[in-house]
Amino acid sequence: MKKLALAVALAVALPLTAQQELPVYLNEQKPLEERVEDALKRMTLREKINIIHAQSKFSAPGVPRLGIPELWCTDGPMGVRPEVMWDEWEQAKWTNDSCTAFPSLTCLAATWNPEMGQLYGKSIGAEARFRNKSVLLGPGVNIYRTPLCGRNFEYMGEDPYLASRMVVPYVQGVQSNGVSVCVKHFALNNNEINRHTSNPIVDDRTLYEIYLPAFKAAAVEGKAWSFMGGYNLFRGEHASYNPILMNQILKGEWKWDGAVISDWGAVHDTKTAVSGGLDMEFGSWTDGLSEGASNAYDNYWLATPYLKGIQDGTYSEDELNDKVRRVLRLTFRTAMDRNRPWGAMVSDAHKQACKTIGEEGVVLLRNEGSLLPIDLNKVKKIAVIGENAIKMMTVGGGSSSLKVKYEVTPLQGLKARIGNQAEIVYARGYVGDPTGEYNGVKTGQDLNDPRSAEELTAEAVEVAKHADIVLFFGGLNKSDHQDCEGTDRLTMDLPYNQNALIETLAAANPNLVVINISGTGVAMPWVNKVPSILQAWYLGNETGNTLASILMGDANPSGKLPYTYYASLEQCGAHKLGAYPGTKGVGALGEEVWDMPYNEGVFVGYRFTDKNKLKPTFPFGHGLSYTTFEYGKPTANSKTMNADGTLTVKVTVKNTGNRTGKEIVQLYIADKKASVARPVKELKGFQKITLAPGEEKEVSFTICKQALSFFDEAKHDWVAEPGKFEAIIAASATDIKGVVPFTLE
Ligand code: BGC
Repeated sequence: MKKLALAVALAVALPLTAQQELPVYLNEQKPLEERVEDALKRMTLREKINIIHAQSKFSAPGVPRLGIPELWCTDGPMGVRPEVMWDEWEQAKWTNDSCTAFPSLTCLAATWNPEMGQLYGKSIGAEARFRNKSVLLGPGVNIYRTPLCGRNFEYMGEDPYLASRMVVPYVQGVQSNGVSVCVKHFALNNNEINRHTSNPIVDDRTLYEIYLPAFKAAAVEGKAWSFMGGYNLFRGEHASYNPILMNQILKGEWKWDGAVISDWGAVHDTKTAVSGGLDMEFGSWTDGLSEGASNAYDNYWLATPYLKGIQDGTYSEDELNDKVRRVLRLTFRTAMDRNRPWGAMVSDAHKQACKTIGEEGVVLLRNEGSLLPIDLNKVKKIAVIGENAIKMMTVGGGSSSLKVKYEVTPLQGLKARIGNQAEIVYARGYVGDPTGEYNGVKTGQDLNDPRSAEELTAEAVEVAKHADIVLFFGGLNKSDHQDCEGTDRLTMDLPYNQNALIETLAAANPNLVVINISGTGVAMPWVNKVPSILQAWYLGNETGNTLASILMGDANPSGKLPYTYYASLEQCGAHKLGAYPGTKGVGALGEEVWDMPYNEGVFVGYRFTDKNKLKPTFPFGHGLSYTTFEYGKPTANSKTMNADGTLTVKVTVKNTGNRTGKEIVQLYIADKKASVARPVKELKGFQKITLAPGEEKEVSFTICKQALSFFDEAKHDWVAEPGKFEAIIAASATDIKGVVPFTLE
């Protein structure tokens, strides 16, 4: 139907003779592969070489002689990056490139709502399209292996199933704009420390069960048109041209026909880049040795050195043709799709999308007593404390740093929402990072404060003492070591002495709410002294409006944690088993390499805390609501499942409170006995449902053998062993509502 509509549209647009005269590669009525072959055979060797590497920081040249347009990329993954100079990272100082910053990807994952993934993708893709970009560098789906990873906020949490379900609609949403995603960073780029030299040592089972599923879902189900290779190594070779990851798995096993783009500056050699499945080189230094000279692009590893190698017979043109075909496919699907929509920038719809996604993603971690939502009948004076109440957070964090049209801070959002219904008094409390500048984009805020920590604390305590409720906005802030590309955090603790400040505030006024703004878990030694805690992520332009809406109860919180909130690093397998950041060694070429054995294997996140019976501060999948839910007893349609059959598990959930709310019902599967060590349970299904007060709904999950399977290294395939299993219905990884035993025949 879609194809027919396309043909009709073209026929209307071009008279028949004109269509017949079009070269095949320009004729959209022809099948994609015919067009690709036609373009390929018209290209000279030099043109083929040109099309597979950058001509500027973010573009590749296309084939000007044939009218095949340039391919423009942009970061990603939470908003469209402001324009940089042709050859430099400095701002181009355009005045029309301010975007909508959407919530961090951890927040998207915390919605547990694939519809939010679709909305997110559609909206950000439209902004990229409006800015004439063909490739959006995102989303990121590296697994949250450690809370210290500087880029967790750009990823979708610790669970491969949750990340898979959330990434597919994001991909489809972006690509519905005729803009390609570039799913990153394939694969195992799970830390920023030593990111160019980290060499994760991971067995196949762990790779296939934990670190690959979200990428596979993006490639196979989402049909992502491009992928980005990571900086790190895998089994001794760089990820961006790793023959196992790119050739064997992505292009081989998954039969993926898209283009592999290197991370910026991730290529170090021609020979391995040619054979290792890389299709496009971006961001390399000039000649591999120095940086910054203009017209450096001929010196790229996949430029003149590659051309010469083909001319002298070192490399075959067949290999090059495969790369060119992939880049042509990417171009035809994007820049050369005449039917792609026009896109839109900072539209009302995008503002609303930003707020809706944020409201669904904020997690109410704790709400003892009745502090939240704020009741203005009782609360007349509100103390707002903390730097994050006033700091713009869209600037910073590395390549995902943005230039926004506007950003509503939490304090502004609260003031706008509350008006004169209550008095709001602000105190800074601590000074964190007052700079507000990244890559030349400035927030324009002057957050310098010369007062000492003692003076700031004394003022905050004074303000807190005289308020009916205290809202502390703290957390991290996307500066180095605080949720930022290129650096990991140094500890799980909150920076800038916030722990001590929170304890002091709790002592000054028991009506304390902590709103933690971060993209990753932080230690909360004060957890039992603070009655209400929100995990608030980075929420983009609408931050303040979103948080005001949650705090006031206009929106009922419905996010759940996409990762385990460890009490300390001791509860995280990567740290407990001593494998982070690995040990320094020497690679094949004498270079520095950090071997990082993933000793915890498949036991990542709740799989590790379950196995070792550890009690995290908050478990994976945890999140409260302003209403309450009651679960019925789950049932299954059968006591057994056949190897080629399915099993349906049902449960009723009732809203027992007096507000409409959303509950995320989770299904975990436990394999009671297996020939390999299996996690106690694994997430294999979830549904987010809306319930009015008193309303009851039945939730139904149908699973098949795949949900029971593990990856068998010897067979190199998924295996479900007959025997006893359990279907576990839960509200979080530790809040089990019912268990249904069954057997696999
Ligand atoms: C990051 C990528 C980003 C690229 C381009 C790299 O430093 O790792 O995620 O897309 O730069 O800015």
